[in-house]
Amino acid sequence: MCGIIGYIGKKNAFPILLSGLKKLEYRGYDSFGFFILGKNNDFLLKKTGKISEYKNKSQKNIKGNLGIGHTRWATTGAVTDANAHPHFDCQKNIFVVHNGIIENYKKLKEKLISEGHKFSSETDSEVIAHLIEKHFQNNLEEAVRKTLKKLRGTYGIAVISKKDPEKLVAAKLGSPLLLGINHNEFLVASDPSAIVSHTRQVITLDDNEIAVISPNDFFILKEKPIEKIEWKIEEAEKKEFSHFMLKEIFEIPESIEKSIAGRIIPDKGLVKLGGLEEVLDRLKKIEKITLIGCGTAQHAAQVGEYMFEEYIGLPIKTEISSEFRYKKPILDEKTAVLAISQSGETADTLEAIKEAKRKKCLTLGIVNAVGSSIARETDAGVYNRIGPEIGVAATKSFISQLCILVLITVALGRQREMDLVTGKKILNELQKLPELAKKTLEQADKIKELAEKYSEYKNFFFLGRKYNYPIALEGALKLKEIAWKIHAEGMPAGEIKHGQLALIDENFPTVCLCPYDSVYDKMKNAIEEIKARKGLVIAITTEKNQEIKNLADDVIYIPKTLEMLTPILAAIPLHLFAAYLGLELGLDIDKPRNLAKSVTVE
Ligand code: M6R
Repeated sequence: MCGIIGYIGKKNAFPILLSGLKKLEYRGYDSFGFFILGKNNDFLLKKTGKISEYKNKSQKNIKGNLGIGHTRWATTGAVTDANAHPHFDCQKNIFVVHNGIIENYKKLKEKLISEGHKFSSETDSEVIAHLIEKHFQNNLEEAVRKTLKKLRGTYGIAVISKKDPEKLVAAKLGSPLLLGINHNEFLVASDPSAIVSHTRQVITLDDNEIAVISPNDFFILKEKPIEKIEWKIEEAEKKEFSHFMLKEIFEIPESIEKSIAGRIIPDKGLVKLGGLEEVLDRLKKIEKITLIGCGTAQHAAQVGEYMFEEYIGLPIKTEISSEFRYKKPILDEKTAVLAISQSGETADTLEAIKEAKRKKCLTLGIVNAVGSSIARETDAGVYNRIGPEIGVAATKSFISQLCILVLITVALGRQREMDLVTGKKILNELQKLPELAKKTLEQADKIKELAEKYSEYKNFFFLGRKYNYPIALEGALKLKEIAWKIHAEGMPAGEIKHGQLALIDENFPTVCLCPYDSVYDKMKNAIEEIKARKGLVIAITTEKNQEIKNLADDVIYIPKTLEMLTPILAAIPLHLFAAYLGLELGLDIDKPRNLAKSVTVE
């Protein structure tokens, strides 16, 4: 931590900087410094010790309307006068104060030295002054802009150049910075305490913004970070598969790996989601969560509701995006709205996020398409990182969304009541999923045979309970979407006896999701009720389960896993079943009738 301050205006800068810096002393107090661009003489001071103990008897002689100050908490380089800020370039034309850490400073410094730059401190911060010198032509903000592109790490900076003397340039990334606005004067500072005695009008700079301030005016440049598309060209090709949908289903084990890679700290039972880091404190204060999405993404949201409710201990709601904004939902700043969208462009979800923002909610996203509208519109979020999904059917993206929901469950659960053992157990089982998904896919031929066997039927039910109720909805949606000559309905198994059972006979097959879990016996009852009415049953159950095999007409096995992870494995055979049934019916499973991959209309 360090404190920075800057002043530009009509008054004498030094006393303003001195009193402001004293207010920032809590941010660092091993050394301090100033640079004042003087009318006649400049003033540069770099000194170890506390700013509160600094006495300058000849203060009156320090005259200038533009200056910067810094109070240091040493990170790189010992506590010495030379390492105190401001830092300057070879010609002492450019002066910089910096709060943050430049992670790649060593490399930059070596290169600058090889180009002839002379360094006078051991700090990471000094590279900023030399880089600005290197890029300076006749305009300070342009040189700062080019410099910032080279930096990795965090910064809040204020910069002055003798060669562009009517200007103070400030910028930030990851370190706080405010611009205080007063009549004919401006201040920049790490926090309000340093400037509140001069003005209460402030602009909080956002990351990647550069403020260019003159004595009479200011403007803010937004430096858009360049995002890297991580996809490889082969990922957008079918390879040996006849259809993208099949290729993408077979990519599921790899997609699970990509979704969780580098995001788990196994021995601590913790999760590290870079995209949520900035809002972690706000997340701690959240009192309820609403999950939104459309179609398959909405089914992921429903599974998320079960996960969050069981492990986070907050009231959770799921909404269909297109209904959410018209319902007048009761939301406030203590509500987090988590939007799930593969494309990041679904208009209904985007509009729902805007509504949540109007109501001051914290908006979060689980999005696959980097830089998409939803990724940009939400306050924070997690990318799926699974490469392009080209088939209209959401398959690998659904599985990835579920995996990220597991990660968020642990991240938020561990902030609250989830203990270390539970956190470790969930993450440990999650890491096994790529292998278990592979094992599930080994039954592809069996599922293809079932698709052939059942291709004559015109109607299907899909039943599940608890975590697998949304998977029943998903199985039915996929069948309707991809094998669209067939009608299907998904529902919670407990509901059929309240009406739907009337439809069951030997011409009406039902897919029952029945893994070993806390509702296993209830699901078994539902299967028995269907069999008693001569209905056909295809059961998805846990490997080796003989009981269900004896009851059902056909069985697909999934490996044993934690209850909350069963939907991830159970969805795989349902996606395959829809794909093979679609092919059996002679349909284009990548481009089903009347549909589009990205639904950008409301
Ligand atoms: O891009 P999104 O995840 O926001 O898309 C949402 C739905 O349109 C999408 O999941 C749709 O339901 C799929 N085609 C289903 O397979």
